[in-house]
Amino acid sequence: MSGKLRLGVNIDHVATVRNARGGARPDPVRAALLAIEAGADGITAHLREDRRHIRDDDMRRIKAAISKPLNFEMAATEQMLDIALSVAPHAACLVPEKRTERTTEGGLDVVGGHNHLKPFIAELSRGGIRVSLFIEPDREAIESAASLRAPVVELHTGAWCHAVELGQTEKAASEFERLRAGAAHAARLGIECHAGHGLDFDTARRISGLPEIAELNIGHFLIGEAIFVGLAESIRTMRKAMDEGRRTVQGA
Ligand code: PXP
Repeated sequence: MSGKLRLGVNIDHVATVRNARGGARPDPVRAALLAIEAGADGITAHLREDRRHIRDDDMRRIKAAISKPLNFEMAATEQMLDIALSVAPHAACLVPEKRTERTTEGGLDVVGGHNHLKPFIAELSRGGIRVSLFIEPDREAIESAASLRAPVVELHTGAWCHAVELGQTEKAASEFERLRAGAAHAARLGIECHAGHGLDFDTARRISGLPEIAELNIGHFLIGEAIFVGLAESIRTMRKAMDEGRRTVQGA
């Protein structure tokens, strides 16, 4: 299971910059089109309850403009469900959301939230939307995702990336081992495995060496790097890093 690894480019922070001044620029739709031209296999955007970056109209415009899959990140709320069903993206990634957090800080509580999540997964699936659950790379969470019949899980790479950034070697090694074991377990249960959060060129290259992972979703680093080298170059370099990482997998 080590085919081509897909890159989903998260364009939330293009909207963050736009919203800092109001007005229409920079336009996340333009970023989505450019990202696809540069090699993105899909576009990811998170419509948060507080609309701090992507707004309802952005989601509709992105969906209408792009030729590649749209991955709609959302909290499991009735309001988001209605919007997702009307936008009809290719995929929806259910994420936990807290108003006070700066970014999505941990995985979904799929064990405690099992009964709450179940109808959302069922409704989205009925609407023809492929559901993924953003979870910690833990055995219990993966098994709960399987029992919820989620076809995809996205493993939260934040703790690993943070440890790498801080130079915490032992912690980084144990977090990477959690991701490796989690990806292998998801594959054993027949769940497609994605990963994301906090990835940069180096960590994306390394995680691309896990053959069960089919897609990486990357945003903040790519948009930040774009300030220096442009969005297209930032994405092309990421694609190269991922391809290098994947080539380390035997038989890839
Ligand atoms: N995947 C999910 C589910 C996310 O919530 C986010 C952040 O919005 C990402 C991937 C991308 O994380 P980052 O912006 O740190 O690359």
